Amino acid sequence: MSETTLRVSKIKDGTVIDHITAGHALDVIKILGITSRVNGIVTVGMNVPSKTLGLKDMVKIEGRELKSQEVDKIALLAPHASINIIRNYEVVDKQLVRLPKVIRETVKCANPVCVSNSKEPVKSTFYVDNEEPLRLRCHYCGYIMEKQDIPKQF
Ligand code: CTP
Ligand code: ZN
Repeated sequence: MSETTLRVSKIKDGTVIDHITAGHALDVIKILGITSRVNGIVTVGMNVPSKTLGLKDMVKIEGRELKSQEVDKIALLAPHASINIIRNYEVVDKQLVRLPKVIRETVKCANPVCVSNSKEPVKSTFYVDNEEPLRLRCHYCGYIMEKQDIPKQF
C-alpha cells in the first residue's frame, strides 16, 4: 500500500489478522476477548479494499500473540484470514488459518436436546463436512451447524 492510500497504520510489535471475511472484524474482537478494559493499541479496519477478496476486515493488536484455540475460532468465521506476527515493524511470520477436520470443545451444539448439552460429561465434537459455506456436523446428534449459528456463542 502506498503512503497516499494507507488507511490503517503499521504496528511495531504484535499480531495483524488480515484478510478477515468482511463483516466479521467485531466477531474476531469478541473471540479475542478485547473489551474497553484492555490496554494496548487495537486497530480495526472494516470494508477495506483487497486485491483478492473484494472487501476485507482486519484487526491489529499491539503486544500480543494468539492462542491456537483463538486461531481455530477465527478460522470458523474467516477461513481466508492470515495471521502475521510483527516484530520491530517487520512481518516475521505469516500463517493462513486452517480448520481442523474435527473441532472439539470450541462450539456448542445448537440442538437443545443433544447429549452434549445435558449434564453428561461429554465434550462437544463436530466434523467439518464443508468449509465454505461452513457446515459442521455434531458427532452426537448429527445436527448441522452453519456459520450464522456460530458468532452468537462467542
Ligand atoms: N503490517 C502492519 N504493521 C507492520 C507490518 C505489516 O500492520 N509493521 C500489516 C500490513 O499492513 C498487512 C499485513 O500486516 O495488512 C501483512 O503485511 P505484509 O506481509 O507486508 O503485506 P502483504 O504482502 O500485502 O500481505 P499478504 O501477501 O498477506 O496480502
Ligand atoms: Zn449435537
